[in-house]
Amino acid sequence: MPHITVKPFNTSLVENKRYGDTEVLFKAKDSFSKDELLGVQHKDKSFLLHIKKNKDSWLLKYDKVTRPLKVDLVKQAITDLADGLKLDILGSNIAIRSTREVKSSEFEKRVEDFEDVKFPFNSVAIEVGFGSGKHLLYQAKKHSDRLFIGIEIHTPSAMQVLKQIELKGLKNIWVVNYDARLLLEMIPSNSCHQIFVHFPVPWDKKPHRRVISSSFLEESMRVLKKGGRLELRTDSHKYFWYSLETFLGDSVAKTSVEIRKNEALDVISKYEARWLKQKKDIYDVYVTSLEESKERLINFDFSFKDIVYKKEILDKISYKPQIFDGFFIHFERLYYILDDAILIKLAFGSFDRPEHKYIYIDRKEAYYFHTNPVKTVTNYKTHLKIMEYLNA
Ligand SMILES: C[S@@+](CC[C@H](N)C(=O)[O-])C[C@H]1O[C@@H](n2cnc3c(N)ncnc32)[C@H](O)[C@@H]1O
Repeated sequence: MPHITVKPFNTSLVENKRYGDTEVLFKAKDSFSKDELLGVQHKDKSFLLHIKKNKDSWLLKYDKVTRPLKVDLVKQAITDLADGLKLDILGSNIAIRSTREVKSSEFEKRVEDFEDVKFPFNSVAIEVGFGSGKHLLYQAKKHSDRLFIGIEIHTPSAMQVLKQIELKGLKNIWVVNYDARLLLEMIPSNSCHQIFVHFPVPWDKKPHRRVISSSFLEESMRVLKKGGRLELRTDSHKYFWYSLETFLGDSVAKTSVEIRKNEALDVISKYEARWLKQKKDIYDVYVTSLEESKERLINFDFSFKDIVYKKEILDKISYKPQIFDGFFIHFERLYYILDDAILIKLAFGSFDRPEHKYIYIDRKEAYYFHTNPVKTVTNYKTHLKIMEYLNA
């Protein structure tokens, strides 16, 4: 990920103004360390840059929660600031002078694009955690009349596949760089034919991070048309049994479940090739949706209404995770923006599908920087609770 190492500099010289194509929106000082965050806007994307202050050299780098999918935007913002502030660069992994103009891709979709979404194809399939994208790209080429929505949490993989889409001239893939467990809740009911989950990480030691869970099954069955299929493919014997137990559990009343062992597919992903070399067994479990589902209403309002910055907010925030009925809030870090604004970093929502966000609060307004949470019932309940905390 792009970063530069620079000699320490006087950050009070960083003004809220434009440096090249990058506008500095605010500077936020970490209350737990000497580090600072810069809220920046580059083209139509806003995100944070992190100034990590080591003793003799500082790192100017991306922020994991807000980084845009196009890593070149971060490179350009860092380059603009380094140039504009005449920073003394000690090291860099950015080809600073050769960064090209970043074109936005029509195939990259954000969570917000799924509000009132209308799909441009009659038939829609989803692939969760597509990794290198081999299967996704193969399917999209084979079925050019079907939209493939690829959801991948790992940003570099999502970027790579976007490049491949452009190179191969495909027109029927949307890439979403987000947690699929959350994004699925934004997809309209009865809208998809297939959901592929190929070789999910088994997470044997951290089962709450698994993609397959009873709520994921419930959401998949809601999103699938009657007759549509959720297709799990795994090399992990343990994950196979865990998934089968989940699929046959109580969360969905009526489905049909089919199991196959060592079924050959037309396309072999990098992961599958590795397991085949080791002569491991591969299991497929297909779950077919047998019922029409109710429409999902997602008209939740994630604005902060009358909440503005008051010193009393600082006394109300506790940095220990708070657990409520079905959700949690963990205020992780606080940043000061001059004397009358703050930025709060937090994790919240459901235990197996948490959101990670920042909230910006000044004397006039408060909002999630840079995007709202996914519109799920749990996130909305949590948002109301967060408002109680901030309503000092
Ligand atoms: C073991 S790899 C398999 C990749 C690909 N399906 C294949 O067969 O080669 C699992 C992939 O799932 C992605 N992933 C894990 N959890 C995810 C989540 N909650 N939402 C979306 N992608 C996820 C990982 O980033 C990784 O790329």
